Amino acid sequence: MMVYHMGNIVINVSGDLNEFNTNCAMNIMEQINKKPDSVVGFATGSTPEGVYKKLVELYRSGRIDFEHVKAFNLDEYYPIKRDNPQSYYSYMQKHLYSQVNFNPANINIQNGEAEDPRAECAEYEKKIKMAGNLDYQVLGIGSNGHIGFNEPDDRFPGKTHLVALNEKTISDNSRFFNSAEEVPKTALTMGIKTIMSAKKILFMATGAKKAAIVKEALVGDITPKVPASVLQLHTNVIVVLDGEAAADILPLLENT
Ligand code: F6R
Repeated sequence: MMVYHMGNIVINVSGDLNEFNTNCAMNIMEQINKKPDSVVGFATGSTPEGVYKKLVELYRSGRIDFEHVKAFNLDEYYPIKRDNPQSYYSYMQKHLYSQVNFNPANINIQNGEAEDPRAECAEYEKKIKMAGNLDYQVLGIGSNGHIGFNEPDDRFPGKTHLVALNEKTISDNSRFFNSAEEVPKTALTMGIKTIMSAKKILFMATGAKKAAIVKEALVGDITPKVPASVLQLHTNVIVVLDGEAAADILPLLENT
């Protein structure tokens, strides 16, 4: 593992996927061991799957305790039934929540079945506030630069809101569904303001397909056209990449 510093941002480049998963899981564990009742925002997708697997292993070996952790999911499709295997509710249950000792009362995910999505978003923000605000947010990045489901736009969206998914995201995510038609066209997502309010952010990316967007996000202009670029303004971000996702940014880091 190599560690680089770029302004406020710490960039950790792992040799392989196993090391990447371990590095991310250890970072999450460190946060929870330091503050056992941490308010943690969790992401879904392919990137964190192996990370959550490591967390489950760490839990089974007695090195981490989720009993007092308050979990908030970053996003959920809308509309979607909770029991749809492609819902983020199902994803989180499968990969993490049902595998460790969370108190079910501390698990929060936007309700993809809510009748009034706007009221659901306002309620979600209230719950985050009542929990004491996010201590730590786990983030992946879409190949179009999105974080959560904050898609490229003319402005940075604020709080949790209903969003229309763009075509790139629908086609990227269609790999989990039978066809692109089955991918919900809207979602409920924490906004950029919600994400940026987290005290610490773990920003993860793996694979060659993310190399160009990782570079753009971390050293390009800060613009809502690349939503992840806003992270350059956060004062406590740890970036964990595998070698492939780091390929484009690495020459810049090695010269610093
Ligand atoms: C997931 C999320 C998304 C993903 C991003 C990358 O909760 O909000 O922003 O982090 O689409 O997805 P993967 O990891 O599948 O490449």
